[in-house]
Amino acid sequence: MAIQDTAFQQCINPDCARTYSVDETLVACRACGSLLDILYDWKKLPVPKSLNFFEHRWSTKGTESEGRADFSGVWRFRELLPFYRDESQIVTIGEGRTVLQQADLLARQMGMKPGKLLLQYEGLNPSGSFKDNGMTAAFTHARMVGAGKVACASTGNTSASLAMFAALAEIRGIVFIGSGKISFGKLSQALDYGALTLQIHGDFDDCLRRIREVSADPKNGIYLMNSVNPFRLEGQKSIMYRILEARDWRSPDWIIVPGGNLGNCSAFGKAFMELKELGLIKKIPRLAVINAKGANTLDEVYSRQNVRWNGGRYDQTTIQKLYAAMDESNYKAHTVASAIEISRPVNLPKALRALDFMNGVTRQVDDTEILEHRALVARYGFGCEPASAASVAGLRKLLDEQVISPDEEVACILTGHELKDPNATVEYHIGAGPKGKLSNPPVPVEDDLNAILKAMGA
Ligand code: F0G
Repeated sequence: MAIQDTAFQQCINPDCARTYSVDETLVACRACGSLLDILYDWKKLPVPKSLNFFEHRWSTKGTESEGRADFSGVWRFRELLPFYRDESQIVTIGEGRTVLQQADLLARQMGMKPGKLLLQYEGLNPSGSFKDNGMTAAFTHARMVGAGKVACASTGNTSASLAMFAALAEIRGIVFIGSGKISFGKLSQALDYGALTLQIHGDFDDCLRRIREVSADPKNGIYLMNSVNPFRLEGQKSIMYRILEARDWRSPDWIIVPGGNLGNCSAFGKAFMELKELGLIKKIPRLAVINAKGANTLDEVYSRQNVRWNGGRYDQTTIQKLYAAMDESNYKAHTVASAIEISRPVNLPKALRALDFMNGVTRQVDDTEILEHRALVARYGFGCEPASAASVAGLRKLLDEQVISPDEEVACILTGHELKDPNATVEYHIGAGPKGKLSNPPVPVEDDLNAILKAMGA
């Protein structure tokens, strides 16, 4: 059966709902400008009867018989993202081979029972962040449509991932980053992998506006890789599949994720909507999306202004007013968690849909909470970058408020590797600012045996 018969793109606005072929390259509905989903006619597809189906791939992973797709933590679930024409088109580098870690030491620090706190280490992806889950899908689509140049705006991780996949797929990669807004770990990756790196005078929101402008004109021949690209989100659904897989296909009570441009939480919502529709899962976990205080648009819109998905007819006026007020005051997002320093999250409508479906909540955490929880994860887990720790800081808040109880099962998504932003870590331990609760500065010692032994407490 031709791929056009089983997979298509559809506008998420229920009053429009226009459909497009998967062969088209779009980042918004041509008719009304809303976001697009990738949808499937499941009845015509070989959908597994139970999630256990995917376990047979464990034995074939990476062998020739089943091909390279099983080696990927995204594509071993390929029946749940069947938009590609044939497996040979898949662009993969072994992304998504990440782990769900039971973090009992951290659970104790958080006042939770053993076995209840789980950390999903997406920093263990090849480029060091969860973005690889989405890039593999978007690059597969880019190859399908014969894209010659791919580009994104980024706070750093998207650009690192894009640059890595562009090199792999031998497609020209271009990244727009805000001047001075990107951590060195991430910048070094984009440069090393050979992407054309444009440092725009402005922040992420400015970069995204520009790249959308550039890619909107077909003359420029740019395939846009930001999370407005619905194919990217298809790959990011797999983070949820892996959490289920690690738990013998049982849902936890909660999924907690940092919110920036809101692609990840949107993808999680879609994953569970589909699993439910396919009868592959009964229990839907609740979703908590955590903003940084200085980049809190979702929390403002959802928890303060009470905007709800409302079947797709959400209150756009309130959101437009908020953005107009931001424009008026020349508001810029500002947080130490540079990865989520975003004030106009493009996936806001899809995030509202995910919150609706997963009975979700939002919260915001300040920079001190983020830094202290990053240090806690480093000490009692094994590290993540500041933005990722927003999930754990948000968990603390929700425990304090008794929204989450200490014996509920909670999976926090650690979106990026600790080494992405070593400056933040070093600053925490030896910076000139106020000492953190877990600051552990190096001890200067003379090159003298007695002095060394004394310093060691011997
Ligand atoms: N955590 C990390 C480490 C990120 O890099 C990002 C986003 C997020 C969380 C937020 O995820 O956008 O799906 O809500 N980074 C983007 C980038 C914006 O350009 O690398 P989201």
